[in-house]
Amino acid sequence: MYVTADSGGSAPRPPRLPRPRSEIAAFQPYRTPPVKADVRIQANEWPEPNPAGHHITPQELDGVLLNRYPGRGDELRDVLAARWGTRPDQLILGNGSNELLLQVFLVFGGHGRKTLLFHPTYTMHGRLTVLAGGTVVEEMVGLPYELTKERALAAMAKARPEIVVFTTPNNPTGNTIDGDLILEIAERYPETLVLVDEAYSDFAGKTLVPRMDAYPNMVISKTFSKVLAAAGLRVGVLIVHPELINYFTAAALPYNVSTLTLAVATRIARDEASVQRRLALAAKERKRVYSALRRISAVDVFPSVTNFILFRLREGKPADVHARFLEQSVLIRDISMWPGCQGCLRASLGTPPENDRFIAALDAVFAAPAVPR
Ligand SMILES: Cc1ncc(COP(=O)(O)O)c(C=O)c1O
Repeated sequence: MYVTADSGGSAPRPPRLPRPRSEIAAFQPYRTPPVKADVRIQANEWPEPNPAGHHITPQELDGVLLNRYPGRGDELRDVLAARWGTRPDQLILGNGSNELLLQVFLVFGGHGRKTLLFHPTYTMHGRLTVLAGGTVVEEMVGLPYELTKERALAAMAKARPEIVVFTTPNNPTGNTIDGDLILEIAERYPETLVLVDEAYSDFAGKTLVPRMDAYPNMVISKTFSKVLAAAGLRVGVLIVHPELINYFTAAALPYNVSTLTLAVATRIARDEASVQRRLALAAKERKRVYSALRRISAVDVFPSVTNFILFRLREGKPADVHARFLEQSVLIRDISMWPGCQGCLRASLGTPPENDRFIAALDAVFAAPAVPR
C-alpha cells in the first residue's frame, strides 16, 4: 500500500502518478501468454524455419556497418517497386506493418476522427485507432463474412469516417472482400482515407495495387510476416499515392528500419521462387486441413484463401477446445473474444507434418463433447 506523508497512515490516498488517457488505461496487451507446444499454429506465421543465414553470409555481414544510422532502403524499395509495379518513392518502410498501420491512424485519425471497421476483422486496426486518439465505428458483418456493396455504402453514409479499413483477405475469416466494392467506396468518398490491409493478398493472388493510380485516397499495407516467411524480421510496407506521400514521409520515424533488416529484407524480396513454392504448398495444405475440419460435425468451417482457417464450435466452450488441442501439444488461437467471433477458433497452416499432427489431434479433441471441466 502507498501512504502519503500527511495522511497519518489512516487515510490512504491513491498514489499521485501520471495517468494516460482513460481509453489507454483500459488497454490490455495484445500478446498472448507464452505457451509451449510442439505445433505452433496460432499466429498466421509461415511455419517452415527461415534462418537469417540463408540470406546473408558472414562476409556480407561485415559490410553491414552498425555505427552509422540506416539508409533509406533504396535497394529494397527498388526491388519491391518492381514486384508491385509502383514507383520506389511510393513505398514507406516500417518495422512490421503494424507500425505503419499506427502511422496511418496517427496521420489521418486522432482526436475527433472516426475509423470505420467491418467486423469480425483484425483487432489491431481498432486498437491502433484508439491508441492514436481516434474513435472506432463498428459495422458487424458477422459470419460468414460477406460484405455487400449496399452494406458498405450504408455504413459509410451513416458513419462518415475519416478512415475506412478493408482487410482482404480478411483475418480471421480467410476470405476476400470484393475489390470493386472497395474501389467504389474510394471513388464515392474521396475525402476518406481507404486503408486496404493486404497482409495475406499473395495467398489470394489478388491485389488492388495496380488500381492505385486512379484512387489517391487509397493506401495499401503489405508485410514480410506471411508468405515472405519473415515475421521475426519485422518489415512492413505502406504503398501510398504520390498525392499523399508527403504526409507519411513527414510523419515517419527516422531510421525506423535497421541496416541489418534492410540488408536481409532485400534478399528475401528478391526470392520470388520461394514465394511461388510457398503458395503452392499453402494451397495444398489448406485443402487438406479444410477437408479434415469439414469432417468434424461439431464445427462450422469457413472457406479460406489464406494460410489460416477459421472454425466455429456448434456447442461447447472455445477455451476448453483450445486446452484440448494443447493437451496434444498443438497451439491454435482462441479468438472467441474478438467482436463477432463467438465460439470461434483459428488455426494457421503448419508444415505438412505439423498439419498431420493437427488433423490427428482433431479426433482426440472432438471425440468427447466440448464440456467444461
Ligand atoms: C491483417 C493483418 N495485418 C497486419 C498484420 C501485422 O503484420 P506485421 O507482422 O507486419 O506487423 C497481421 C498479423 O497477423 C494481420 O493479420
